[in-house]
Amino acid sequence: MSAMISRKPSSPKAKAEPRFAIAIMAAGKGTRLKSKHPKVLHEIGGKPLLQFVVDAAKAVLPAEDIFVIIGHEAERVRAAMAGAGVQFVLQSEQLGTGHAIMSARASLAGYDDVLVLSGDVPLLRPETIRGIRDFHLKNHAAMTILTADFPDPTGYGRIVRKKKGGRASDEVEAIVEQKKLKAQQEKIREGNSGIYALATGPLFEHLDELRTDNPHGEYYLTDIAGILANSGAKVLALKAGETHEVAGANNRAELAVLDSEVRARKCAELMAAGVTIFRPETCVIDAEVEVGADTVIEPFVQLLGKTRIGPDCRVRSYSVITSSEIGDGVTVRNGCIVSGARVSEGAILGPYSHLRPGSDIGPGAHVGNFVETKKAKLGRGAKANHLTYLGDAVIGENVNVGAGTITCNYDGVKKNVTVIEDGAFIGSDSTLVAPVRIGRNAYVGAAACITEDVPEDALAIARSRQVNKEGWVKAKREAMEAAKSKS
Ligand code: UD1
Ligand code: MG
Repeated sequence: MSAMISRKPSSPKAKAEPRFAIAIMAAGKGTRLKSKHPKVLHEIGGKPLLQFVVDAAKAVLPAEDIFVIIGHEAERVRAAMAGAGVQFVLQSEQLGTGHAIMSARASLAGYDDVLVLSGDVPLLRPETIRGIRDFHLKNHAAMTILTADFPDPTGYGRIVRKKKGGRASDEVEAIVEQKKLKAQQEKIREGNSGIYALATGPLFEHLDELRTDNPHGEYYLTDIAGILANSGAKVLALKAGETHEVAGANNRAELAVLDSEVRARKCAELMAAGVTIFRPETCVIDAEVEVGADTVIEPFVQLLGKTRIGPDCRVRSYSVITSSEIGDGVTVRNGCIVSGARVSEGAILGPYSHLRPGSDIGPGAHVGNFVETKKAKLGRGAKANHLTYLGDAVIGENVNVGAGTITCNYDGVKKNVTVIEDGAFIGSDSTLVAPVRIGRNAYVGAAACITEDVPEDALAIARSRQVNKEGWVKAKREAMEAAKSKS
């Protein structure tokens, strides 16, 4: 395991200023989620739980002092956090939160204090991490526990405070886990957030005293509070300002509560920056989405992934935009699905357009109802307004693509490109069999099946000539009536 550790040796300055590390416990399976995915990679606000914790930790300490303890599906978790630059420690068997810290002992040995965070408590703010660190140092505590008065503390370890003169003091006697609560302790609403500051000296002196005599047969880190307090060391509780910040995500219901909290915060942040959001509680906006001022977002819109929307846009109800770039003043009418696409300023989409990855819609272009685009570039002012499929297509400026036009891009083996040059007009219900090129300002007559290139300024007609059979229906009708009167 030591091969995984790469920490700079303590500098002389470290003696004066206590050296702090952050350990993030992220090795657990998350049994209560009933999932094949590791708990800490479950997402809220479009981001893995652990990513929130790592981001908050990095706002407080350099990545080299942050140790993420991984175990269950370790390689998946490590890969998901690979870009963060943090250290990883392997807890090869998940024998409990106490055992997680035992596994990190060698990595933490050179530090004076460690802040222990939980990978499943995602909304913790950097200010709060700094707050517990400062409180812990100022009070020379062996352990400081971040706590909260949960409206429903079920599932949280409860804080048993020492009594001084008949009243609860700042000092903690023990943390008692839910399943070990005595009747009189059931009333305690103050819960353990799973976030602690610990002086490494007393921690490592007493860590081996943890026992597995509990209903799960695990080493509970929470037992260290009672062990330290019994040894005469100072164990303090510090209450967090609000409960959401220290709420854990152990099951799907808790995940949903935290997800709506993150999304509400995101909407509030966007509104504060000048975005109008009607009925924000119905909108699903991921953490990394950016939206410009004076853009209006209607109810039931989803903006996901790394989507960027410019100012002065209107995104109408039921549109779902994922990892796309939308320029200034774009209108996205109702029900559009836009993924991995770029839409330039002043373009109009929808209602019900489907822009798939690689779609690049030029300034002022229109993509209308039931139009699907994939790897299709539309030039400035180009229009494809109705019932069309444009795949692997390069479409010039001011091209008009008639209703029902289909690019036949797939020949059963590979994808081929259709090029439609500037100013061309494609009649309705045309099929353009790629690879094919329609020249500048050329016309394609309606219902054409185009298999050969069309030169600039030419008219292509590619359909069978119409034949009108005069009186055909009348003759058929009379023949049928005659047959009926005979029978
Ligand atoms: C824990 C606390 C509980 C507290 C709650 C706050 C213990 C025994 N209980 O309970 O007092 O109120 O957090 O959210 O600590 N993990 C490991 N290795 C393991 C087991 C867990 O790294 O062997 C990690 C998990 O991935 C998770 C964190 O530790 O990120 C907490 O574990 P979890 O099982 O969620 O503990 P809780 O039951 O929530
Ligand atoms: Mg938990």
